[in-house]
Amino acid sequence: MSPTNSRHILAAPAWPYANGPRHIGHVSGFGLPCDMFSRYHRMIGDKVLMVSGTDEHGTPIQVQADAEGVTARELADRYNRVIATDLAGLGMSYDLFTRTTTKNHYAVTQEIFTGLLNNGYIFARSALGAISPSTGRTLPDRYIEGTCPICGYESARGDQCDNCGNQLDPADLINPRSKINGETPAFVETEQFFLDLPAFADVLGSWLQSKSGQWRSNVLKFSLNLLGDLQPRAITRDLDWGVPIPLDGWRDRPDKRIYVWFDAVIGYLSASIEWARRSGDPDAWRAWWQSPDALSYYFMGKDNIVFHSEIWPAMLLGYNGQGASGGTPGSLGALNLPAEVVSSEYLTMEGRKFSSSRSVVIYVRDFLERYDVDALRYYVAVAGPENQDTDFTWSEFIRRNNDELVANWGNLVNRSISFAARNIGSIPAAGDLTDADRRLLDQSRAAFAAVGESLGRSRFKSGITEAMRTIGEANKYLSDQAPWKLRESDPERMKTILHVALQLVDDGKTLLTPFLPKSSQRVHEMLGGAGTWADMPRIDEVSEDGGKPYPVITGDYTGAAVWESRPIRPGTPLSAPTPLFAKIDPKVAEEEVARLAGK
Ligand code: MF3
Ligand code: ZN
Repeated sequence: MSPTNSRHILAAPAWPYANGPRHIGHVSGFGLPCDMFSRYHRMIGDKVLMVSGTDEHGTPIQVQADAEGVTARELADRYNRVIATDLAGLGMSYDLFTRTTTKNHYAVTQEIFTGLLNNGYIFARSALGAISPSTGRTLPDRYIEGTCPICGYESARGDQCDNCGNQLDPADLINPRSKINGETPAFVETEQFFLDLPAFADVLGSWLQSKSGQWRSNVLKFSLNLLGDLQPRAITRDLDWGVPIPLDGWRDRPDKRIYVWFDAVIGYLSASIEWARRSGDPDAWRAWWQSPDALSYYFMGKDNIVFHSEIWPAMLLGYNGQGASGGTPGSLGALNLPAEVVSSEYLTMEGRKFSSSRSVVIYVRDFLERYDVDALRYYVAVAGPENQDTDFTWSEFIRRNNDELVANWGNLVNRSISFAARNIGSIPAAGDLTDADRRLLDQSRAAFAAVGESLGRSRFKSGITEAMRTIGEANKYLSDQAPWKLRESDPERMKTILHVALQLVDDGKTLLTPFLPKSSQRVHEMLGGAGTWADMPRIDEVSEDGGKPYPVITGDYTGAAVWESRPIRPGTPLSAPTPLFAKIDPKVAEEEVARLAGK
């Protein structure tokens, strides 16, 4: 298969809250799958734009700032840097990873708000808002817990019931209580702006129906289910931390801000616009948002589905003038709806929910200090929560690392290259091929279509399993052919076997590049390749109007990696390799489990 694609693909991973370091449960949901998808699409020649950033407004930030005794801005600055560093460390190939506190993001958010308002999809009305009697502060929906009035689930949140999936209003909860301190919230009348979701019921319904057979069925079912009960949704809050409401009489009010979820989803658009400006072509974002054949893929954990498959599409439709009240596109022009909302399920940790407060957690930074990034990426691809809730256990992580990554792929790379380096010193040419040789080479070439098909559909587990199966065949071939027995008796045959094995190593490197970019780069170099094969992101320090510098992740992802089997070049010098991956002592599992509190 040769790379003939050149579609515009927007890869949109969810925006992590800048309220703490991210743990591996987070990044296995929104992050790493999106990076694997993006890398694959770049390798087949598509024009990928991967943008995201830290989500820095709203209560999640305010509550943590209070807990740490700093301002919301200080908190956001602190964790924006921590998170950017971690995500770059994971090899996340963002074209731009920015933040929601930029001037550009404020302006784009206000433009979308205004566009929706002009088209009649936003209206003001008085509603009951929850406040904390002890502090007098607004209690955000997410921080109120109670019994769901629809299904009776006892831990429903004020914004949504995770059991039945329905959107809720905190005032509907039975027996509401604050998640912050357990007190019963007081409800007071306050004026807010609402997004008229019912005006999109029909168009959202037919749009979702058209995705049947394409989206993961859990995502589609969940989304269609939400349409049964569409209510106007408050998109402003009584809060001083957030994007100001762009209307006279509201703009300067210190106590009213746009709701964090309303501004966060706009981040995909504002980050694309910021990327275009930074790249020197301010209109470049339009190719991903406005050309009819551009495709956008959003990646997240399942608690984010409603915002990406219902609210964000409704906002886009309303801005375009495509809801029940009609209208015309705002000044940015009409914007594309998601091609797919890709959601993963939850990852748990040794049988329990990840919890920073209860120390049931492994943070990205701690993980990367102790283990290879590709060991994590491998685990997430092969055993991540792609279609069902999945448990991370240290013993399973170590087993997969040792028995699969090291024993299968690492072993093939190391024994083929070191044997060829020691006995020949370069990549040997092949003589006549036997049936076994041909079969293996054909299998390897065929793997590109199969693994590629899986990656293109975000079926990471099936993709990496197929790649590893081919590598397993190559190991078996090498053991069966036993070139080490032919050194004296048939050196020509020995060279042919090695040539075939090294071709499989080269193919394996390519097939695994979306999953394991760092080790694929190393295999590229071990096989005598020069320059960059798999690009890595970099961090730039930027600032706004001479303000405090902050990091953005960006990169030049034009490396040599292409999704096809390329013939290796005989004569290329080889030297003895160092091991590609390290084995982990199984005893480490006990140490790691002991680090978790309560064990
Ligand atoms: N910050 C949210 C979370 O961690 C995700 C926001 S995704 C966005 O759950 F699209 F809205 F930005
Ligand atoms: Zn419910």
